Amino acid sequence: MKMNKIFVKNKNTNYTIIIGKGSLGKLKTQINKLCPKAKKIGLILDKNIPNDFKFKIKKQLRKYSVHVYEFIPNEKLKSFKKANDLLERLIKNNLSRNDTIITVGGGIIGDFGSFVASIYKRGINLINIPSTLLAQVDSSIGGKTAVNSSGGKNLIGTFYQPRLVLSDLTLLKSLSKRNLVCGFAEILKHSIIKDSKFFKKLDKDKNKIFENSDFKTMGDTISKSCKIKLSFVNKDEREKNDRMILNFGHTFAHGIEAANKYSGKINHGEAVLIGMILATRLSYVKKVCSKKTLDMIENLYLSNKLLKKYLNFLNKKNLNKIVNFMEVDKKNYDKKINLILLRKIGLTTKPGQYRLSPGEMKKVLKKII
Ligand SMILES: NC(=O)c1ccc[n+]([C@@H]2O[C@H](COP(=O)([O-])OP(=O)(O)OC[C@H]3O[C@@H](n4cnc5c(N)ncnc54)[C@H](O)[C@@H]3O)[C@@H](O)[C@H]2O)c1
Repeated sequence: MKMNKIFVKNKNTNYTIIIGKGSLGKLKTQINKLCPKAKKIGLILDKNIPNDFKFKIKKQLRKYSVHVYEFIPNEKLKSFKKANDLLERLIKNNLSRNDTIITVGGGIIGDFGSFVASIYKRGINLINIPSTLLAQVDSSIGGKTAVNSSGGKNLIGTFYQPRLVLSDLTLLKSLSKRNLVCGFAEILKHSIIKDSKFFKKLDKDKNKIFENSDFKTMGDTISKSCKIKLSFVNKDEREKNDRMILNFGHTFAHGIEAANKYSGKINHGEAVLIGMILATRLSYVKKVCSKKTLDMIENLYLSNKLLKKYLNFLNKKNLNKIVNFMEVDKKNYDKKINLILLRKIGLTTKPGQYRLSPGEMKKVLKKII
């Protein structure tokens, strides 16, 4: 099968994303080329990766001294304390800056492992092998690393680019439907903020994506999604302006996740789905988008049951808590909550254009949930 390759090149970055069935087979030659002085590999692994895939990775790394650090991913792993524990283990195993860290996992392992790689000896070679749909379309690219704080989600982190991203489509075969839907959430976001044609195509292809039934559709959808994300990242790597548009729906999502104590009952992609519908309803209430735009998105949600049980996580009782967490969002620069709203499918408002006080936010949320 033909691999999709994306070359990411801007002022500070130069790496390749290889997407395809069996792209893992490129690992050995790519490390040789990109990290020729590496002798040791720190392999940061998601425990839930199928064993045969773990075996294949280790086979590719035979010539290196491999140190494996395996974790069960949950949002509690994304903590400064857990990052420090891993840093101490890397120091004990004496990895040098010429060596390489490889993360293999979903967004949680990716965010956590990349954060550690970015501060270990002021930065060590990093390769990402994303293993969930969400990680392949979003979190493994763009260079944001993060851990959470008791004050909110992803509040501690760095910008640090990988040397290579290998998205192997065979990894998605063991993924649950629930996690495929979470990946779909970020793909849908990319279409809503930038590309109405892609939105229509997703509406057509959604069953193939939820069933993960066809490598070509998956490969093309992942590539398209990465390209949209990169179009924002390449203009504004450090998120001073346009990159904030990628946070469409995420201010709500982070508030919901934190107010629900990062419980496994609601995961990131599900919170993003709720966040995007709230942002669209708010856009309609504020007369930023039309009823037709709202209906198109609501219909896609309804026909795929994308908002199941959302009132368990967002209701009049925990609304104050959610807004309190929204107040510490990284996009804010004063007491107001900075939101990205939707003008129409494919076009959002600019960062900083719509800012609501916490009081206004509570009032309007009561109306739109
Ligand atoms: N850095 C960024 O730019 C960025 C962007 C979007 C999201 N994120 C972060 O990503 C995280 C969510 O990532 P996620 O949705 O991938 O969740 P996750 O990492 O928790 O993975 C979901 C589940 O799938 C399991 N899993 C992983 N690969 C598997 C495989 N191949 N087969 C079977 N099971 C597998 C994991 O063990 C986990 O139980 C959040 O913390 C979010 O904040 C970061």
